[in-house]
Amino acid sequence: DDARKGGFEHYMLKEIYEQPQVFFDTVKSIENDSRLAMLRIPAEVTVVACGTSYHAALIFRYLAEEYSRKRVSVELASEFKYYTPPIRDMVIAVTQSGETADTLAAIQRAKARNCPTLAITNVLGSSITRSADWTLFMCAGPEISVAATKSFTAQLAVFMAILNEMCDGKFTETLGRVHCSVERVLSYELEDAVAIIKNASEMFYVGRGVFYPVALEGALKMKEISYVHAEGYAAGELKHGPFALLSEETPVVAICTPSPTYGVILSNIKEMKARGAPVIGIGVEGDTEAESIVDVFIPVPDDHQIVQVLTVSVVLQLLAYHTARALNRDIDKPRNLAKSVTVE
Ligand code: G6P
Repeated sequence: DDARKGGFEHYMLKEIYEQPQVFFDTVKSIENDSRLAMLRIPAEVTVVACGTSYHAALIFRYLAEEYSRKRVSVELASEFKYYTPPIRDMVIAVTQSGETADTLAAIQRAKARNCPTLAITNVLGSSITRSADWTLFMCAGPEISVAATKSFTAQLAVFMAILNEMCDGKFTETLGRVHCSVERVLSYELEDAVAIIKNASEMFYVGRGVFYPVALEGALKMKEISYVHAEGYAAGELKHGPFALLSEETPVVAICTPSPTYGVILSNIKEMKARGAPVIGIGVEGDTEAESIVDVFIPVPDDHQIVQVLTVSVVLQLLAYHTARALNRDIDKPRNLAKSVTVE
């Protein structure tokens, strides 16, 4: 077992470290996959998924709608199965394992409605590959830790390569440097942030735009492996309820990288601070303004938003990992969770 962990204390950390290569390999493999060119992504698509894969799909929605103007709906597979939203021109199922029962059922449902289907999965020969009309593979390799990390990055790589194809190669150069930026954050141990979170029993993660689903995924990682109750929120929604819960005991992780909503998120942070909440800000290197208003500032390289989706996501994985480690949790096998949920 120790040999398979390659010198890392846990599979999760090993898999986090594999992400620069996984992203690079997956983008290259999709670029070279003739199926992508043959398969024209229609103007309106629906993506179905569960768990972390659902968050990858939400990120795709923000990016695709912003940069390509295609309409992307995202549905939880477990919901899509039972109710009938107006179906788009194509249904895309994203699933690391290719075996999640709800996602398989959602694809069957789409097929029964004569809708073209595309699967994005990590496992050759998995059930989803036999159901969907087309399959694109991520190159994550086997993921042992129950909490998804490198498979999430690989899903983002597939989605971003699809986006790049939809945008006539506009992001080729940007995607080519993601792995270098991710490399730069891997060694973060985040002691100051962990010291705040490890004593909390509940906390929030907030972001806006594409960083809202990044915040959802950060909160999911924290819940899964540290058992700290973490909720992801769109930053503007905190005042519609969760403000009632804010105090010195509820840390907030706020993603405050540059974007058209940067000013608004800084005022959101001030509102949270005014209610006593310790704020851990994730922003770009050299942003002294954001740094001056938060309790702990975690810098990521200043780069295109597409790159920051990855660097911030990896920082949030590391934050969950190091918190769970400080709390002495069973990181690779969290209680009550399964790697693949093959029952409804
Ligand atoms: C389980 C795993 C999650 C995963 C979800 C969906 O809950 O613990 O990490 O995101 O299933 O899995 P899939 O294989 O469909 O991506």
